[in-house]
Amino acid sequence: MTQITDYIRTIPDFPHEGIMFRDVTTLFADPRGFRMAVDQMLHPYAGQRIDAVAGLEARGFILGGAIAHQLSVGFIPIRKAGKLPGPTISQTYTLEYGTAEVEMHDDAITAGQNILLVDDLLATGGTAEAGISLIERLGGVITACAFVIDLPDLGGRKRLEAMGMQVDALCA
Ligand code: PRP
Ligand code: ADE
Repeated sequence: MTQITDYIRTIPDFPHEGIMFRDVTTLFADPRGFRMAVDQMLHPYAGQRIDAVAGLEARGFILGGAIAHQLSVGFIPIRKAGKLPGPTISQTYTLEYGTAEVEMHDDAITAGQNILLVDDLLATGGTAEAGISLIERLGGVITACAFVIDLPDLGGRKRLEAMGMQVDALCA
């Protein structure tokens, strides 16, 4: 297997009927696939200054942690509501299949830091937009939003690019 898409499987009707769920656990479980994903996600930012990686719960933690380690920078979790122990800022958003709320510790970012936002998949862009909002509210400057998968029909890339974001994905 040589391409990222070879490691990703699609599970029909999860978590709801009609959703074709792109399952990246098979990518993460494969040593070559996982390294390929992390290395390819980092590629666009070679030579750029990134001060921290922010990852969106849950699969953005797995990728973002590995990417932060590779860059020798810190990792900032953007969590579903109610999970972070310290004072937080929060943002609600709508999903392809529901609504949700994410939070970040209110001291997680120093104003002016360059932040790479990471998640496994871009669909409607609602989750990423909520993450962008949290980062920018704390004064972070977003270098780019990096994903393994972009589902272009759901409009997320256009939505984020309309906000002036650089959007990078390994496959559609
Ligand atoms: C998935 C995925 C992204 C989000 C993308 O997570 O990992 O975070 O959906 O969708 P959007 O672009 O339409 O916002 P999900 O919300 O299923 O949560 P989970 O990581 O807890 O499974
Ligand atoms: N998040 C939103 N839509 C998704 C999909 N089709 N597969 C995986 N995660 C998703």
